[in-house]
Amino acid sequence: MSKPLDGIKIIDFTHVQAGPACTQLLAWFGADVIKVERPGSGDVTRNQLRDIPDADALYFTMLNSNKKSLTLDTKKPEGKEVLEKLIRESDVLVENFGPGALDRMGFSWERLNELNPKMIVASVKGFSDGHHYDDLKVYENVAQCAGGAASTTGFWDGPPTVSAAALGDSNTGMHLAIGILTALIGRDKTGKGQKVAVSMQDSVLNLCRVKLRDQQRLERVGYLEEYPQYPHGEFSDVVPRGGNAGGGGQPGWVLKCKGWESDPNAYIYFTVQGHAWEPICRALGKPEWIDDPAYKTAEARQPHIFEIFETIEAWLADKTKLEAVNILRKFDIPCAPVLSMKELANDPSLRASGTIVEVPHKKRGTYLTVGSPIKFSDLKPEITASPLLGEHTDEVLASLGYSKQEIFTLHEVKAV
Ligand code: COA
Repeated sequence: MSKPLDGIKIIDFTHVQAGPACTQLLAWFGADVIKVERPGSGDVTRNQLRDIPDADALYFTMLNSNKKSLTLDTKKPEGKEVLEKLIRESDVLVENFGPGALDRMGFSWERLNELNPKMIVASVKGFSDGHHYDDLKVYENVAQCAGGAASTTGFWDGPPTVSAAALGDSNTGMHLAIGILTALIGRDKTGKGQKVAVSMQDSVLNLCRVKLRDQQRLERVGYLEEYPQYPHGEFSDVVPRGGNAGGGGQPGWVLKCKGWESDPNAYIYFTVQGHAWEPICRALGKPEWIDDPAYKTAEARQPHIFEIFETIEAWLADKTKLEAVNILRKFDIPCAPVLSMKELANDPSLRASGTIVEVPHKKRGTYLTVGSPIKFSDLKPEITASPLLGEHTDEVLASLGYSKQEIFTLHEVKAV
């Protein structure tokens, strides 16, 4: 079956997570992604947190499926020559090196544009070009702190907290993928490539946009009515950490269910959706609350929202999280169990939809990964194993017109 990105050739000069997540997505959708790696070592994640000696770590395999691996020392003249050939016939180059690394290698945007004016050059950096921190190297949690996520996550009496979700890494990669696809469509109209740059700070901030909303509301009115600090606590002049409060206009909280004493995930998230108040009262066996002026409106409920949550917890005390959700779903209440990674890994619906996939790998045997979270009516991305280091070096060199003898020489001088 043909795929939408068939025929798009991508030089994947990425490492760790942000860049690889972007190029993996494009590979799933049909792009020919050639990962360029340093001979002998390759992407650092091949070795990071290994669970099987001598086999690529899951960190690598889960971010580099459906790609080819070409080893190339792009600091050696022979390696640079190969890279130049590849650049001349590729559509996109994606990189997430530290600031200035590509320029130091001799491949500035101007040089790349000269070699192939139709090529799109896509970069991830910690901070955007010209930012006063644009010289900094950045990893996930640094970006979460710089992008507003950490200052607004966690509980008010605890320190800034980072999320387990890769808001700085994979999220930035997804932003970059949107930028690349946009530039490819733009190229169809203009015939020209362009530079696409995404910073991790900007990508985190983009996901924290409701907190910037809250900063402005706070400055105007002095309080934020959906935060647990309202109406009994104090507000300063910065958006506080709101614990597990809902970020929109619907109050919600993580509530204990049967077994919470021993199971760290025996909880549900319960949302007190404004217009669902009547079904909530019926589900909880509290019909007297429906028309009680102390509970009837969202405004009336807010001052004692935590008493309401306590009442719901009392109702949950003899129900497991799954039993509770099975009851609440009949009342159309927005809620879900707090699911552990173990539960997600074995979830039959996620297996059936291709969101959790088993991938056979030459050295590891089978491993689990997250497949495409994007579903299409005419495309079912097939997830194939990540490449071994240099697995496709000879194949890629041959496709660039190198003879067997020339390939042998490149190996001899350790350029590949
Ligand atoms: N052949 C020869 N040299 C290669 C090479 C190859 N195939 N691939 C990479 N290199 C070199 C680069 O030229 C660079 O050398 P230089 O610093 O001497 O110029 C070096 O390897 C890579 O440097 P760098 O990317 O800075 O690696 P690092 O391990 O010190 O830093 C990061 C890692 C992730 C912190 C840094 O790359 C970074 O800040 N990237 C941008 C933001 C980002 O994506 N963060 C990670 C999110 S998961």
